[in-house]
Amino acid sequence: MSASCAPLHDGDGTVAGAVLVLRDLTLQRALEATGRRAERLAGLGSVALGLAHEIKNPLGGIKGAAQLLRGAIDDPELVRCTDIIIREVERLDGLVEHLRELTVPPRLELEPVNIHRVLNDVLALQRQAPAWGETTLRVEFDPSLPAVSGDRAQLTQVFLNLVKNALEALGGRGEIRVSTRIETRYHVRRGRGRGQFLLVVVEDTGPGVPPDDVAQLFSPFFSTKASGSGLGLALCHRIVTEHGGTIAHEPRPGGEPAGE
Ligand SMILES: Nc1ncnc2c1ncn2[C@@H]1O[C@H](COP(=O)(O)OP(=O)(O)OP(=O)(O)O)[C@@H](O)[C@H]1O
Ligand SMILES: [Mg+2]
Repeated sequence: MSASCAPLHDGDGTVAGAVLVLRDLTLQRALEATGRRAERLAGLGSVALGLAHEIKNPLGGIKGAAQLLRGAIDDPELVRCTDIIIREVERLDGLVEHLRELTVPPRLELEPVNIHRVLNDVLALQRQAPAWGETTLRVEFDPSLPAVSGDRAQLTQVFLNLVKNALEALGGRGEIRVSTRIETRYHVRRGRGRGQFLLVVVEDTGPGVPPDDVAQLFSPFFSTKASGSGLGLALCHRIVTEHGGTIAHEPRPGGEPAGE
């Protein structure tokens, strides 16, 4: 919070009181932190891009050779081995591709987006996933929200990653709450007018994020999952930053986790 104070003079110039202005700087701080993370990611970019290129070519060779081998052998145990090679090469290739997307931001294709439609699409898709299990869903959308200017495909990616993380944290049991509202406490300057922030909160009743992990949540490759790439939240961060927004983790008031 910032505070500034000025004397309040009455008609004959004597100080009759004071004006104290308190400004909530939470969002400003969050935007600054988001900007710093974006810079770090850009620094990583050129190295990652070179590396991605160097890795992708040999991967193609390994996969091609494994496919040839697979066609030439009969022993089921060896066929299983070549299948593992092919599958793992494809996983690595996907990882490198994600890394490339992360460091070379695709251009935003802005259009008016109905954020509720995007969220409903993501939720409908995830409800079909086996990971959904017995998860209950609570949706609290503010029906007065206007369309926002955004890249529909990329915003879909953001919410897909957040909902997937929530589902993985719940393990098929618990509640996911998705809510939207206009953030009335803050404004941004847009040309001559004032822009408002749209707030989307994705919460889950899972175990939450240990305090030591919070600082690394949005760092590429930070993952506590056996088969996680750790790129999901880094990608969310990049897309939200490109949209001029900010993304943050907040523990739930009761100490439980939330993604936002
Ligand atoms: N809703 C959540 N509850 C608890 N921990 C979370 C939640 N969302 C993210 N995390 C933590 O943040 C880490 C990073 O998340 P991120 O989405 O970037 O990668 P990932 O989910 O591990 O892998 P990927 O997204 O590539 O499958 C996770 O491994 C997990 O430890
Ligand atoms: Mg994830």
